[in-house]
Amino acid sequence: MRISLRMAGAFRAVVHICALLPLIWLYLRVQSGQAGGDPVQYIIHFLGKGALNLLLLSLLVTPLVRVLKQGQLLQLRRPLGLWAFTYACCHLLAYISFDLLFAWRLVLDEIVKRPYLVLGMSVWLVLFALAITSISAIRRKMGKRWQQLHNLVYCATLFAGVHYYWSVKSEVIEPSIYLALIVFLLLIRAKIYKHKWRFLWRLS
Ligand code: HEM
Repeated sequence: MRISLRMAGAFRAVVHICALLPLIWLYLRVQSGQAGGDPVQYIIHFLGKGALNLLLLSLLVTPLVRVLKQGQLLQLRRPLGLWAFTYACCHLLAYISFDLLFAWRLVLDEIVKRPYLVLGMSVWLVLFALAITSISAIRRKMGKRWQQLHNLVYCATLFAGVHYYWSVKSEVIEPSIYLALIVFLLLIRAKIYKHKWRFLWRLS
């Protein structure tokens, strides 16, 4: 069965609802004092993990489209990417406001001092560039350079996985699983590109 335009629209709405609900859930949990002994860490971790999960989901779309042969699903990459950026912004804001109380000097000192924060910052900058250039008019103006810029998402996801791995002190099992999953997805992507290049090579 082919997914119609209307169904793809419904899937997009599901993505928006599924990404918004955890934020409401987090707000209610913090409000009701159920965010553990250290609510600030709870919020930062929840939002960081959310951003990474959404980024991973956006990378999963292309292999899924190839397996299911449903091109319409490609439309899900944009909302997933924009939600990943939204979570990353909230993660950064929670850290700067609740943890560092907007002490900008301290924010700069911390970021420069800790390599895992430099990585986090670079991931955020890439997501910011991708979000801005996802506006249709800008996309059209950029032409071929748009795809080149958006390929940075693979690098950003790998960096986000390393940022997570580096941020934990002892429990490395979960971040290691995330890193393995990211590398696996990047390898699938590399294989898809190799096929494309071979195909174009044969045509030329
Ligand atoms: C904008 C710059 C960023 C800053 C300043 C930042 C800061 C932090 C901090 C302070 C922690 C907690 C470390 C601790 O436990 O002591 C953390 C954890 C984390 N961050 Fe970031 N981050 C940034 C960007 C990102 C981005 C863009 C992502 C994902 C796309 C991300 C994903 C995560 C994850 C998954 C964790 C671990 C959460 C957990 O332990 O459950 N961060 N980050």
